[in-house]
Amino acid sequence: MTSEVRLLLPKDDENWSSIDSYRQNEGYEAARKALSMAPEAVLEEVKASGLRGRGGAGFSTGTKWSFLPKEIEHPRYIACNADESEPGTFKDRQILERNPHKLIEGLLIAAWANHIDAAYVYMRGEYRGPYDNFVAAVEQAREAGFLGKNILGSGLDFEIHTHRGAGAYICGEETGLMESLEGRKGQPRKRPPFPAISGLWKRPTVINNVESMSHVPHIVLKGADWFKTLGTEKSTGTTIFGVSGDVLNPGTFELPLGVPLREIIFEHAGGLRPGRSLKAVIPGGVSMPVLTAEMAMDVTMDHDTLQKAGTLLGTGAIVVMDDHACVVRAAILIAKFFRHESCGQCTQCREGTGWLHKLVKSVEAGTATMQDLDTIDEVTNFMEGHTICALSDAAAWGTGWFLRRFRSEFEAHVHQGGCPLDGVSFEV
Ligand SMILES: Cc1cc2nc3c(=O)[nH]c(=O)nc-3n(C[C@H](O)[C@H](O)[C@H](O)COP(=O)(O)O)c2cc1C
Ligand code: SF4
Repeated sequence: MTSEVRLLLPKDDENWSSIDSYRQNEGYEAARKALSMAPEAVLEEVKASGLRGRGGAGFSTGTKWSFLPKEIEHPRYIACNADESEPGTFKDRQILERNPHKLIEGLLIAAWANHIDAAYVYMRGEYRGPYDNFVAAVEQAREAGFLGKNILGSGLDFEIHTHRGAGAYICGEETGLMESLEGRKGQPRKRPPFPAISGLWKRPTVINNVESMSHVPHIVLKGADWFKTLGTEKSTGTTIFGVSGDVLNPGTFELPLGVPLREIIFEHAGGLRPGRSLKAVIPGGVSMPVLTAEMAMDVTMDHDTLQKAGTLLGTGAIVVMDDHACVVRAAILIAKFFRHESCGQCTQCREGTGWLHKLVKSVEAGTATMQDLDTIDEVTNFMEGHTICALSDAAAWGTGWFLRRFRSEFEAHVHQGGCPLDGVSFEV
């Protein structure tokens, strides 16, 4: 079994939220090192590490940073995405609750590398405890001289501001997040221009997920080559996999990318209840296409392998369903979520999410026809690829792939006039 790695989180019974405990564990050593290097050298190290964003899209972090204008005009900002609202995803929360200085140090190094003046951390509104913990850590970092003016005598002036969301998933989409931070409705912006050129308050902005930023300190301290010894060639390093659903030991597990999904489910997460068998697995949060048990047994958890298997790594949030789970019910819950969270700007998304929810509900209720199953497929095709942001694609994949990969179970609902698993109607 692959051993858990502790780059982002302390051991389960430890909490490094106090600056003293963080510093006893190499805390802020990377910041000292980075601030003694040229900013461009820090950026090159992050680029060379192969670090890919952990917020869902998997884009190269160093490459994204290199898109900022080379002429340095201030102000320049970081928007740090701590919205974490995708059902099944609960990894950033662990960092905010148990190792907040790791994120602060990552932000500080990113600020140095990109000539940034201030970071805005946008946090999921329900994360009251993580918010308080993070804000307290920011205060400690300021008192210790890691924030404020002329940090460690480097000439860098840098501040972190923390903002709480109000419960909208769409504010986790990077430009929806920026609209919300600027005080407007969290509706995604059309691109171009991209945030690197015109982001927060129309200024150059780096946007990264909490976990992505939290990998930066150990990359700088131990080097890109060391980071690349973990994971696979194109998916370097570790990630915090979150496992939920029908397993005996749900939770978070920090493991190198490329670990077999079978190992995560059956060893780290304790496997299934006695007598149950695996039916379905969503490997990366509910936006990502579901896998059948057969497919799930074959894949490793890295970007390329999952893409070849017809899904994506997303946030590494693994949702496990055993043979007692009804896939149509799972699809209803997902469809309902996206219908509720669509911001309504694009017709395909606004109308499509509503139709999907309605149609999948009718399958569970036993009132759908075979023609309705084809209509679900058509609606998902119409929703993909033409909208302002990726929520529409996520809704189409999250729901549509349940139908494509479990068509016989959907058909059984139609033929039997309801759920073949227990016959109980399900109101969602
Ligand atoms: C509807 C929607 C919701 C999203 N929610 C989050 C979120 O909660 N946290 C996050 O880090 N990224 C989220 N993303 C992805 C962000 O738009 C963006 O790609 C990410 O913050 C970039 O950081 P990274 O490159 O470090 O992954 C979301 C995207 C979409 C389309
Ligand atoms: S795809 Fe959906 S959520 Fe995204 S901008 Fe369009 S309507 Fe809003």
